[in-house]
Amino acid sequence: MTGVEASEATFALPERPRAAGRQDWTAWPGYNAAGSGYRGYWYPVTWSNHITKNPKSYTICGEKLAIIRDAGKVYALHDRCPHRGVPLSEGDQQFPGTVSCPYHGWTYRLTDGKLAAVITDGPDSKICGKLNVQTYAVEERLGLVWVYIPIANEPAPSIDDQLPRELVENKGIVGGRIQPREGNWRFACENGFDEGHAKYLHRTALWRLFKPMPTWNITSIIPEGRWIYRVQEEVYWEADFPGVGTWTNKRWWKKKPDETQISQIGNVGAGLDVNPVIAAQNFPGFASLSMPGVLRIAYPKFIHYEFYVPVDEDNHKYVGLMVNFVSGAAKLGFYAKYLGAIRWLFHGQFSGQDAWMVEVTDAPPEKLYRPDVSLTTWRNLAEEEYAEKIAAAAEHTPKAPVRPTRERRTAAPRPAPVTDAQIPTGTSE
Ligand code: FES
Ligand SMILES: [Fe+2]
Repeated sequence: MTGVEASEATFALPERPRAAGRQDWTAWPGYNAAGSGYRGYWYPVTWSNHITKNPKSYTICGEKLAIIRDAGKVYALHDRCPHRGVPLSEGDQQFPGTVSCPYHGWTYRLTDGKLAAVITDGPDSKICGKLNVQTYAVEERLGLVWVYIPIANEPAPSIDDQLPRELVENKGIVGGRIQPREGNWRFACENGFDEGHAKYLHRTALWRLFKPMPTWNITSIIPEGRWIYRVQEEVYWEADFPGVGTWTNKRWWKKKPDETQISQIGNVGAGLDVNPVIAAQNFPGFASLSMPGVLRIAYPKFIHYEFYVPVDEDNHKYVGLMVNFVSGAAKLGFYAKYLGAIRWLFHGQFSGQDAWMVEVTDAPPEKLYRPDVSLTTWRNLAEEEYAEKIAAAAEHTPKAPVRPTRERRTAAPRPAPVTDAQIPTGTSE
């Protein structure tokens, strides 16, 4: 019975529909506050071959980094010269193992950020060695440069503990795309794991031209280790919506889905030949998500990863990787397929539909529906994991020095002449 019928029959006010879902993010205060990203994680910054002896500037979690390669190794420093605040990424290398600021030639050691020479103050510069810029742990994996953004001054944990395990334990070949994108990283991450969107938003993607998408699913979200998985319980390829009509994404030119089985690899139906490395992972569901915003979609022949790298409140970097676990001549086949099709269709047009939604999403407020359990479970995971991380990092936070209380002076002291000894020292960035 509709509300209108009820009011006609009984002259009672129509029942007020219950507000759907929750409307703000107060249940996840840490997540709500993580607009610029979560510190305490490794983030992919750029392709390894983009980093040379000429420093480049990148921003992650609102932190500006100057990244440079010296003698084959990559280094990251805070991208701000303490002298007058000029970005070190505007500078260059005057001595091996260092980077020099372009303004007055303050020169910093790459290993620890110590001020090693001040070119315009002569070899006996008194300020030398007395200050430093912050440095960051750097690793190179999967053809990418990764930087650890610390919470306090904790040592960086091993990157292998954070990378998806199958990428540490197996050799894979990688095709990928890195794009600066508008929108907050949380919208990008939520979109990636969003249970309801793919089958509708992406129905027009060329990537799906010959593969139908289901109409709707019953899905549960289950945790396993550091990850949460979307597990397909029931898949419906068409549905009759009362009073509106029938809806399906099946078309005569698309592959016929096997409607008798449910696959947890890929989302096109079951019965596919699966690469042995991927099969051995026994993923409970084909889409999974982990902190600090890493999406993994397992297909029969490759695994697709998305890293949503926070830049600032309004921008993130999309790092999409397609990893294939083959060797020998099969590698060439993968590269041909990646460069000829996947890069344009999947990492291009398909993923561009996601970028579009991330750009225009505006929440909270929001009213969630049943499939959004994928979003709320992710937020719960983020909230719990980060609370533990903060607690662990707290022991590395330097305690504020206790200063002895000073007597107030009765008369202002006379200004003394400026000497070298009064040049500010000991500050660090
Ligand atoms: S601002 Fe960097 S050397 Fe002066
Ligand atoms: Fe998507």
